[in-house]
Amino acid sequence: MARTQVGIVGAGPAGLLLAHLLHRRGIDTAVIDNRPRAVIETIIRAGVLEQATVDLMHEIGVGDRLVREGAVHHGFVLRFAGASHRIDLTALTGGKYITVYPQHEVLKDLIAARLAAGLDVRFGVRNTSVHGLDGGRPSIRFTDADGQAQALECDIVAGCDGFHGICREAIPAAARTEYHRVYPFGWFGILAEAPPSSDELIYARHARGFALVSTRSPTLQRMYFQCPPDERPEAWSEARIWDELDARTQGAGFRVKHGPIVQRNVVAMRSFVCEPMRHGRLVLAGDAAHVVPPTGAKGLNLAAADAFVLARALAAYFADGSEALLDAYSATALRRVWRVQHFSWWMTSMLHRFDGTGAFDERRQLAELDLVTGTEPGRRLLAETYVGQPFG
Ligand code: PHB
Repeated sequence: MARTQVGIVGAGPAGLLLAHLLHRRGIDTAVIDNRPRAVIETIIRAGVLEQATVDLMHEIGVGDRLVREGAVHHGFVLRFAGASHRIDLTALTGGKYITVYPQHEVLKDLIAARLAAGLDVRFGVRNTSVHGLDGGRPSIRFTDADGQAQALECDIVAGCDGFHGICREAIPAAARTEYHRVYPFGWFGILAEAPPSSDELIYARHARGFALVSTRSPTLQRMYFQCPPDERPEAWSEARIWDELDARTQGAGFRVKHGPIVQRNVVAMRSFVCEPMRHGRLVLAGDAAHVVPPTGAKGLNLAAADAFVLARALAAYFADGSEALLDAYSATALRRVWRVQHFSWWMTSMLHRFDGTGAFDERRQLAELDLVTGTEPGRRLLAETYVGQPFG
């Protein structure tokens, strides 16, 4: 049977960042994923990196393209009641900022670096299962892309296989607690060939529902608007999409720039946490353990924070067998997870239309937006949470 120290299920942000951080500490890893490489490298997700995530990419040695092609943003705009309010992230946080660089570009950089180093990563595997987590030798079994049955003996299994993955389910139901919130709406996302409408992201609250004006490159823009959770992307004509985005964002001389829509998808909105994030020789990281709605753009950053804390714990474990940090991993990670859950829920609740909650709720949202734009402590709290805290 093949052997490795840490068997990592999932080549998303959590799994790949963990693999790189462990490799830098001299720990042997193998990474498997049931998706083909081309799928992983093209799935569209959010694109906002906290400074700590950018720092981690540099530590791993894959920060160059991000600096060249990513866009540094020193602020963002909240738009409501027909007016725009800028949140000056850099001034409010003593110099911090965010970088807009799409998640799949992060993954391309991480995969290329792993392959260039000649390290084990296998795509397109099937029938993955994990064994021996409670005692004895943990192992991962799977069928590789050539149809060969494989078994990998590990000291630790890292479940980084996302919300729909198999690793979390390997923890007995009695040994975990899951917290769920499913929102009664989704996001209709588009990519349009157009110049940027704005230098900074615009989060818009409107009586018709939320809208977000983001960007990808000088010629490609990402925009979203709140829609029913089961909306079919193809049900909308281009004209109807632009009408809806215009209605929710225009005013005071501003209008989003239109262009051919080259991609569209509907994003589900949920909040989810599984506690604890460790069971015996199995540790969970990223979406396998927690999901946030995209409003705060925190999913990738939270996965990066998990990988950071976990790599430190595993380094101590493999250095001298000490389990103190590994024992603390779940509590350490969950403290950040719940803070970020709160932030993502807060941004979501402040900006979306909730049907059936009436005029009181609308006034409550406007008061909250007034607090975070019209008062210094409000602006500061929003800015500090948006740019994110150091990982440790
Ligand atoms: C995106 O560009 O896809 C994006 C940006 C900010 C968010 C969510 C998504 O809050």
